[in-house]
Amino acid sequence: MNEPKLLLIEDDRRSAQSLERVLKGKGYAVTLADRGDEGLELARTKDFDVVITDLRMPGLSGLDLVRELHAAKPRLPIILMTAFGTTETAIEATKSGAYDYLLKPFEMPELIEVVGRAVAGARLMTEPVELGEEGLEGQAIVGRSRAMQTVYKEIGRVATTSATVLIRGETGTGKELVARAVYQHSERAAKPFIAVNCAAIPESLLESELFGHERGAFTGADQRRVGRFEQAHQGTLFLDEIGDMSAFTQAKLLRVLQDKVIQRVGGKEEIPVDVRILAATHRDLEKAISERLFREDLYYRLSAVVVRLPALRERAEDIPDLVGYFLRRFSREFKITPTSPEADALAWLVEQPWPGNVRQLENVIRQALLLSRGFAVTRQHMETVAAKSSEAAASIGGPAGGGATLEESIDLWLKSAKEGAQIDVHARAFEAMERVLFGRAIDLAQGNQAKAARWLNVSRQTMREKLRSFGLKEEGQGP
Ligand SMILES: Nc1ncnc2c1ncn2[C@@H]1O[C@H](COP(=O)(O)OP(=O)(O)OP(=O)(O)O)[C@@H](O)[C@H]1O
Ligand SMILES: [Mg+2]
Repeated sequence: MNEPKLLLIEDDRRSAQSLERVLKGKGYAVTLADRGDEGLELARTKDFDVVITDLRMPGLSGLDLVRELHAAKPRLPIILMTAFGTTETAIEATKSGAYDYLLKPFEMPELIEVVGRAVAGARLMTEPVELGEEGLEGQAIVGRSRAMQTVYKEIGRVATTSATVLIRGETGTGKELVARAVYQHSERAAKPFIAVNCAAIPESLLESELFGHERGAFTGADQRRVGRFEQAHQGTLFLDEIGDMSAFTQAKLLRVLQDKVIQRVGGKEEIPVDVRILAATHRDLEKAISERLFREDLYYRLSAVVVRLPALRERAEDIPDLVGYFLRRFSREFKITPTSPEADALAWLVEQPWPGNVRQLENVIRQALLLSRGFAVTRQHMETVAAKSSEAAASIGGPAGGGATLEESIDLWLKSAKEGAQIDVHARAFEAMERVLFGRAIDLAQGNQAKAARWLNVSRQTMREKLRSFGLKEEGQGP
């Protein structure tokens, strides 16, 4: 991936230079402009990934720049730098399409964080997602299986409408990729695509994140804030992990879907918004409805069109294509000669249960490729990686398969969860424990499933299913 290109418009020489130094140090290619009109011209004619601009400048004010540039390039993120006392203008600018603003004096880590987020967000919009086959750049949704053909058809069918789309599927099946593909093929492709991960934002903040708030709406709300709905006006809003939204926010969302207006938190004004909603979840919504965790009426609103992504194990015939795709991609990334996997390595990969789906396969291939150091990727590489990687520890080989112990795995998962990763530690730990248990039992019974089942006091049926789902030895079936 090339270094992101950043345009910095700032008339104060010294401040421009120090920002430039920091941003270059973080791997950005920085272009400087010291007048608003000059900056606008540059941003219009050249390709940038993000624009940072001062609010007060000669030539053209930051607010006018935002208005004109956003009209010309709605997908280009613009970040405003603003001094205290001009925040109302900055908020005005966010309504006119600015991505975010920074209140001077700000700390460098804050700047780096906002810029990083803006660039990542813009890439979601601009990096093309190809369907079914890989293009030269960007990403592809790979797979020719029947199940995936259905998915492509569905994407094509819904893209040109403005219908709400609910994307369902287990973790790592490509829901986010599909959301981007739907957006990129839609009539709103030139307008913004804004993603909100409902599970990653604390419940108390999600409402204001989505709908914004008025000044004084709650303690800490010392400025008005424009929410994602307003920012996504005329564009697309991707509500990821919608199954994790609280009942309260669900009710507010339902109202927006019905009335097409939002109210900021603590505000009375009804603000009309024209936003296309894409939503995704890995959760079992029917179950959540029966447990009263998810509103049935919201579910019906969202599920006018449902795209259901198959689990990888349901389309194992796509694994060779995916493996080839990831090997080519990572070889390019690591600048090594592409190699093919050995036949038995491929056969082994096809047989694995892949509870982490394509994401897990992708991780295993990346690491196996690094391990193989440019030589053929063998089954040995795959197994070593699978046993070691904490992702894979929960699925292939598992803690019992060498590498991390159960406790070590649990520590790893907890640590990742603490750092914000979205993993279901409880489910994983149980699965890992069961893997150890069933693995040990079948070993001790020397492959005799009847014996192992008796010792564990489970049915032979359960024994068979567990062994299969954990990919534990099929040989030595026992009497
Ligand atoms: N069909 C596919 N072809 C190529 N890559 C894929 C495919 N499906 C998923 N991937 C890759 O797998 C990874 C996970 O995909 P994605 O983030 O879309 O999953 P998700 O369904 O949103 O998972 P989660 O529920 O955990 O958020 C990404 O790196 C994505 O590029
Ligand atoms: Mg996702």
